[in-house]
Amino acid sequence: MIKIKSSEITPEHVYLSRRKFLQAMGMITGHALLTACRGPGQSTSMPAADVVAPVTSVPHETQGAQVATKAESLPTASAAADELGNALTPLEAIANYTNYYEFSVRKEAVAGLVGDFETSPWSIQVGGLVEKPRRFDLDDLRKFESEERIYRMRCVEAWSMVIPWLGFPLAKLLKVVEPQSNAKYVRFETFYDPNQMPGTKSMSLPWPYVEGLRLDEALHDLTLLATGLYGNPLPVQNGAPARLVVPWKYGFKSIKSIVKIELVEYMPTSLWMASGPNEYGFWANVNPDVPHPRWSQATERLIGENKRRATLLFNGYAEEVAELYPDLDDRQWYY
Ligand code: MTE
Repeated sequence: MIKIKSSEITPEHVYLSRRKFLQAMGMITGHALLTACRGPGQSTSMPAADVVAPVTSVPHETQGAQVATKAESLPTASAAADELGNALTPLEAIANYTNYYEFSVRKEAVAGLVGDFETSPWSIQVGGLVEKPRRFDLDDLRKFESEERIYRMRCVEAWSMVIPWLGFPLAKLLKVVEPQSNAKYVRFETFYDPNQMPGTKSMSLPWPYVEGLRLDEALHDLTLLATGLYGNPLPVQNGAPARLVVPWKYGFKSIKSIVKIELVEYMPTSLWMASGPNEYGFWANVNPDVPHPRWSQATERLIGENKRRATLLFNGYAEEVAELYPDLDDRQWYY
């Protein structure tokens, strides 16, 4: 894997100076350390919220952080901000502050642990209740026309980023396999190999990482199968070679490094539902008025900023997705 310093590959308009970046990381890592709460009714290991006041010190493990990306050219994006005017999060922050529990629960450590992870050859098996089950290899995925989508990503831990993804609507791939009429949900599964993924050995979770969507959510135009960001292939730590991006839901729904997609009749059980049923449900739509059992979801911190901002219903995508959910006041949709 080619490891390139972000200072060598990031153009000025997106480059966050190393000093600023480390300051931003310090503000994050000083408090968002993982609590691995395992009290009664809290069997999950999801980190605690990003809610404590910022600190200024920089933990030493972030100081050597690099963008461990297979960047082939300069990072590019078609705009400097999303449609609400939020500036894009710099590549260096996106690639060095990642949630990928198969490697580590320490967000700043993941980029340094993915170096030997093989993302080629790769294939995604798509089957279950479909007329034309099929295995898509990397060349097959490349045949779908790639487009850029600038999306906000809101983590359940109450931090957020603005990311210029490359990819294509998942609906395009699902149409190829022709879902049967009794298919109601889609189940996604991440690659799993304890020898390549040290976090799976050190943390007892019901691996592999599994997520799910209702079929109409999966077919929604906003739902992306992402294969890149900032104009380049996905960094491994961000879910290479292909991951889901569902921008109106908490980030844990956006499963990385997918190897299997199954159309099913019944609601699949995700890894987080299995490990923390009192804290994590299936829907996980962003709602500032519905707190996590252990913290408020009313505000968030956009990575790179040191103030908190209001969280938006459906992460700002209500106009596009509210029609998917009858009776928006029903709190079931937000767990
Ligand atoms: N997918 C897998 N396989 N493993 C993970 O640990 N973390 C999730 C999601 N997808 C995760 C995953 C969480 S909690 C978040 S917030 C997003 O990925 C983070 O995506 P990013 O690291 O690219 O920002």
